[in-house]
Parts: sequence; C-alpha cells; structure tokens
Amino acid sequence: MCVKVIILCATFGLVSGAGVLPDSVDAALGGTVMFTTSLAPTQTPFISISWSTGTKNIITSNAGGNFTGPEYEGRITLFISTGSLELRNVALSDTGQYRVNIIPAGAAAIVGSIILNVYEPVSNVRVTVSSSDLVEFNSSVTLSCSAAGASLTTFLWLNGSIEVTASDRGHLTDGGATLTITTVGRYDQGPFTCKVSNLVSSNISDPVQLSINYGPDGAILSISPLLDYYEEGSDVSLSCSADSRPAAQFKWLLNGELLSFTGAQIQMINIQTSQSGNYSCQAFNSKTLRYKTSQPASISVLRRITNIHVESSSNEPIEGTSVNITCDASGPIFTRKWLINEQELNPSENIVFYDQKRVLSFTVLKRKDSGKYVCEISNPISTQTTVYTLSVIYGPENVQISGPKEIQVDKTVKLTCFSDSVPAANYTWIKNGTVLTQSSEYIKSMAGSSDSGQYICRASNEITKKTSEAAHTVFVSAAQESLSAGAIAGITVALLVVVAGAAAGGFHVYKHQKDRRLSKNSLKEQHVYENPSTAHNFNTDEENVYENDLNAYDRHL
Ligand SMILES: *[C@@H]1O[C@H](CO)[C@@H](O)[C@H](O)[C@H]1NC(C)=O
Ligand SMILES: *[C@@H]1O[C@H](CO)[C@@H](O)[C@H](O)[C@H]1NC(C)=O
Ligand SMILES: *[C@@H]1O[C@H](CO)[C@@H](O)[C@H](O)[C@H]1NC(C)=O
Ligand SMILES: *[C@@H]1O[C@H](CO)[C@@H](O)[C@H](O)[C@H]1NC(C)=O
Ligand SMILES: *[C@@H]1O[C@H](CO)[C@@H](O)[C@H](O)[C@H]1NC(C)=O
Ligand SMILES: *[C@@H]1O[C@H](CO)[C@@H](O)[C@H](O)[C@H]1NC(C)=O
Repeated sequence: MCVKVIILCATFGLVSGAGVLPDSVDAALGGTVMFTTSLAPTQTPFISISWSTGTKNIITSNAGGNFTGPEYEGRITLFISTGSLELRNVALSDTGQYRVNIIPAGAAAIVGSIILNVYEPVSNVRVTVSSSDLVEFNSSVTLSCSAAGASLTTFLWLNGSIEVTASDRGHLTDGGATLTITTVGRYDQGPFTCKVSNLVSSNISDPVQLSINYGPDGAILSISPLLDYYEEGSDVSLSCSADSRPAAQFKWLLNGELLSFTGAQIQMINIQTSQSGNYSCQAFNSKTLRYKTSQPASISVLRRITNIHVESSSNEPIEGTSVNITCDASGPIFTRKWLINEQELNPSENIVFYDQKRVLSFTVLKRKDSGKYVCEISNPISTQTTVYTLSVIYGPENVQISGPKEIQVDKTVKLTCFSDSVPAANYTWIKNGTVLTQSSEYIKSMAGSSDSGQYICRASNEITKKTSEAAHTVFVSAAQESLSAGAIAGITVALLVVVAGAAAGGFHVYKHQKDRRLSKNSLKEQHVYENPSTAHNFNTDEENVYENDLNAYDRHL
C-alpha cells in the first residue's frame, strides 16, 4: 500500500515537475546544452515563451519582442516553433533548475522544468608507475591513473588494445583508478593506457610501457665448427646466448672451473690438447641477479698420429719359432689394425694379438706367413700406416741337382744344385769326401773317367744352421762307347736334413725306396744320406716315419 503510494507520488511528481522537458541534462563546462521540449513544431506562433532559472529571466518572447536577461546575451538561441532553448558557453554557475512557460494560442499554458548538471570535461589523464625496476616473478607494480576535473568519473585500463579486467594478477582498486599487477611477468610490458570518462567527456593517457627484467633463460652454448674431435692447432669458437633482459653477462667454465675470459663469444685459436674438456657458459642478469648455466659441451683436441714404426722380437724369424711384431706410434691412438694383401688380419690358431693389437704374435711361424704386413694406427683425425716385410727363415729343403748322368770323355761336366731356403742356401760340392767347389754350380771341363762317380751337393742355410744334401752320379764314358740311359743307375737325390747338432746321434742310410718317383727326372732310387758308412736296417716304425716324409715330399712336388 505504502509502496504503491510512493510510486504514484513519484510518477505524479515527474509529470508535473518535468512537463514537456526531461528531468535533467548534463553539459560540459564551456560546452553547449539544449533544453529540448517534447512539443511538435507548431505553425501557429505561441503567444509567449518564457525561460527562467531561479529568479532570473533568461528570455521572454512574445508579440512585443524578445527580452533576454543581461547574462544570457549572445549565449542563447530560442527555437520559437518548439520552445526549446540552446545555452552556450556553459559555466559551472549555470548548474540549476530551468523552467519554461509556453502559452499557445487558444490553449492552456504549458510548463516544464529541467535540471542542468555542468561537469568539467576530463583532461590531463596521467598514469604513474610505482616502480620502474621490475623483476619478473618477484615484483608487483601499481599503475595509478589521475585526471583533472574528474567528478563522477570512470576508469578503464587497456593493455595494448585489450581491456584489463580484474584477475589473479591484475587487481583494480580506487574505483578502478589503480591497477596493481602482482608478480609481473615479462609479457606485462604493455603499453598500458588509462581511459577516464565522465558523463560529458572522456580522455586517454599516454601509453605506459613497463620494463620488466627477466631471465636469463636457457643459456645455450654453441660451438663452431661442431666436431667430435679437433686437431691440435685448429680454431674453434664458442658462443653463448640466453634470453634475458637486460642482456646477460657471460662467464665461461672449463670442467667446472671458472675461466678468465668473459663475453658472449670466445675464439680459440690454435687449440692445444690441454684445452680439451667440458665447456659450459654461465649467463648472469645483473637486475634479476639470476644465473643460468648451459649444458656442458665437450671439446676434444687430438694430435695427429706420427712416427709409426714396427719392431720384431727377432730379426731372424725362423720357421717354427714364435715372433712378436710390435707396432707403435706417437699421438693418441684410438685403433690399430693389421692387414695383409689389403685384408684385415684376424686372430687364428697361429695369430694372437696382444695389447689392443699393438703386438701381432705368431705362435709358430710358418713359411706361408711371409709377406708384407701393414700396420695401420689411427685416431679420429688421422691415420698412419707402415709396412713390415716378414721373411720366414727356413730350409734348406728339397735339394735337387740337375745335370747329365752320362757324358763322353773330354766333355764338360756341369751340375747345378737348387734348394728351398730362406735366405738362399750356400752350396758345397763334394766328391769322394773332397770339397770340389763352393757354388751352386760345379763345372769340370775335359772330364776324364776319374770324374765318374757320385757328386754330393750340400746346401746350407747360415741362419738355420741346417744343411741338406743330394747326390748325383755321373758316368764318364769312353768316346766310342754309348750307354743307354737305362743301363746306368742315375742316382739322384733327396731330401736329407742334417741337423748340425744331431751329428753325434744315430745315422741312417735310408735306401731302396724303390719305384717312388720324387721328381720327373727319372729318379729311380732315393737315398737319405747322413753318413753313408753307418747303414742300418729300419724297423717298422722308422719305415713308417720315412714313408710319411716321402709322402709329404711327393705332395710337395
Ligand atoms: C524573437 O526571436 C526569434 C528568434 O530569434 C525571432 O524569430 C523573432 O522574430 C523575434 N521576435 C521579435 C518580435 O523580434
Ligand atoms: C598484457 O597483454 C599481454 C599480451 O597480450 C599478456 O600476455 C599479459 O598477460 C597482459 N598483462 C596483463 C596484466 O593483463
Ligand atoms: C666431460 O663430461 C663427460 C660427460 O658428462 C664426462 O664423461 C667426462 O669425464 C667429462 N670430461 C672432463 C674432462 O671432465
Ligand atoms: C626475488 O625474490 C626472492 C625470494 O623472494 C629473493 O630471494 C630475491 O632476492 C629476489 N630477487 C630480486 C632481484 O629482488
Ligand atoms: C709375445 O708377446 C706376448 C705378450 O706380451 C708374450 O707373452 C710372449 O712371450 C712374446 N713372445 C715373444 C716371442 O716375444
Ligand atoms: C777316394 O778317396 C780315397 C781316399 O781319400 C782313395 O783311396 C780312393 O782311391 C778314392 N776313390 C776314387 C774313386 O777316387
């Protein structure tokens, strides 16, 4: 009931109070305001229009003329068809209630009133910042907005072009005049502007940029050129970067120890092996007082391999012995390899490597092990090779005599002796216990019948100290005689190894291995001589041994 009365009363008051005018109107100081009536323009002139405020007449317009109050001269314009009034150059003192009284022709008087509010326009909008040295994550900042003539004002903050609303980090206080950003971040640099508005105007501040110090973030060390290994004497440059404001200062560490140089880049000219190690850089921000250290980067400086050389444990590598060949070089050695005929050598029953292939060891030398052995030593920046020629010493073996079995008297006897031997064997020709010559060839011109007989070629190897002999029988025939080859037992040779040290042992004459062909030179019999004077009969085991030897010999041929 009571509420209803109030509403009715209010409605009634509005109608009777305002009449043909709105309740109120706002005007900016110095600006222009229009008191606009709700009357439609009339063709029939009103009898009278009268505007007043307080006790002051503003204008009275009737058939008698227009009477303008002295203060309003030149500041007003009356629109006689509607009764509206324009007031210019509004002053604060113009604030107040304005009334109009219109008397139309042949109708009741029309009245109305309106309140004029005069506001100062917003000017001189300014933002002040609480602190200019801001540290990301540490600082909070307060932006305060002020303006002149600010009555009934509102504040709006813009971050770039985006309105700042209250959030976890952005707090608006003082009716929005103060923006506090707690724990600033690097992206809060703005530009921030403050827009101040009141009912009649608005104005915007100059943009404010915040300088937020941050970082350093993610110190990154880069190396140019980037290699796994650097040759001693080469140049490397290291550079460090980090996202930081202000720009970071850099320090350098080698294996965790601080180095003397500073700066974002270090040029290392003519690097030495002693400069190898793990480098890292440390970025420092003098404002945030924060450090960031990069991941370490390894620099390995290597010398080239030089001075490769090979040594043998024996300069007389005799077959059957064991020999070590050692390959070495100066410089940091990563890998060693042995090759023969361009094939890498692998361990086998006869080949053993020691000391990461520094030593190539032949456990029992065989003559087929002779060859050119290449030793290759390398590291990631260089390789050196050298060749070692292994000549396995053996023999003499397989002594053979070539020459006629029968010649005519007065002709020349020429016998040549060969044998397998490294180094080449020395030869001695012996006949009937007498040394004839020391040469692989025996030549006797004008042969006589006394030159018939058995010739022995003794081959000897000065290193193995072994000798081996073969025999050859020559028959010097009378000039007129002609013997068939078959009639003479052409006796050649064979294999007979005399071990010097075994001279005191049992000697065998090994005869009658009939029908065995050792060579194609029509050998009919074979004899193993050691000392022809001490023949004996062979037991079965011994026979077998010799049989095996002969079989081997056959195969060799
Ligand atoms: C009064 O002023 C109005 C508007 O300026 C004008 O139209 C009108 O003719 C004037 N009346 C007289 C009587 O001068
Ligand atoms: C300002 O704008 C930037 C970019 O749009 C944004 O990252 C930042 O969080 C904003 N700051 C505030 C306080 O609104
Ligand atoms: C460098 O770092 C690597 C890996 O972290 C480590 O194995 C090596 O020993 C370091 N070198 C030096 C000289 O500290
Ligand atoms: C940042 O804050 C931490 C902890 O509150 C403080 O220890 C540090 O000194 C501050 N840094 C700066 C640069 O003010
Ligand atoms: C070869 O070297 C190995 C390993 O060092 C050693 O055991 C062996 O006796 C050496 N042999 C010779 C013949 O030097
Ligand atoms: C062999 O030599 C011995 C003694 O040196 C000698 O008696 C013999 O006659 C010689 N035989 C031949 C065929 O010359």
